[in-house]
Amino acid sequence: MSNVFVLDHPLIQHKLTYIRSKDTGTKEFRALVEEVSTLMAFEITRDLPLEEITIDTPVTTAKTKVLSGKKIGIIPILRAGLGMVDGMLNLIPAAKVGHVGLYRDPETLQPVEYYLKLPGDIHERELIVVDPMLATGGSASDAIDSLKKRGAEHIKLMCLLAAPEGVEKVQQDHPDVDIYLGALDERLNEKGYIIPGLGDAGDRLFGTK
Ligand code: PRP
Ligand code: URA
Repeated sequence: MSNVFVLDHPLIQHKLTYIRSKDTGTKEFRALVEEVSTLMAFEITRDLPLEEITIDTPVTTAKTKVLSGKKIGIIPILRAGLGMVDGMLNLIPAAKVGHVGLYRDPETLQPVEYYLKLPGDIHERELIVVDPMLATGGSASDAIDSLKKRGAEHIKLMCLLAAPEGVEKVQQDHPDVDIYLGALDERLNEKGYIIPGLGDAGDRLFGTK
């Protein structure tokens, strides 16, 4: 079963409060999503492997550590996942970025894939799928399916907010994928929106309706 980590650092909780508020406008919403993504990137990369190397400082020789192991790929689910990419690149600037285009049909709530462009070497990378919202879990689960079909082996999922229903779906479909959340909310409403949530993440990021 996937592990679920709620990254409830005080700065993340504080910023999520303003992200949730309906009084927060597009400009501030975008900035806050980027900031929270950077904070979450810091937490999600805690377990990256290190190796020891020897370097010369200006005064001596020292054994010290650098990252080793697989390189990272960031995979935003379009559209709203795009709002999290720059925040992650602030900490992992050399990461490659692949895109999965999915929208959720408003009637059936089923995800529909319309775009896919991935780095050629995803099977060699540690992939972090990013989407602000994990609601029914259909979009995240399908995106992960697409990555696995193309050879991806190491995948983490990072979302700002999740409903228990979405967590359960990803755990069932992809027990190997660990899930990192800013907050785990109460439930979905009858339209598949996360409660209390933040509304429609894509619309709030891009100022559409
Ligand atoms: C939102 C969100 C997720 C999806 C979550 O995208 O960004 O991708 O819904 O819902 P689910 O867990 O029930 O699948 P949306 O379909 O609104 O598309 P958009 O990002 O293009 O606005
Ligand atoms: N997608 C969103 O943007 N918000 C929700 O609450 C659920 C799905």
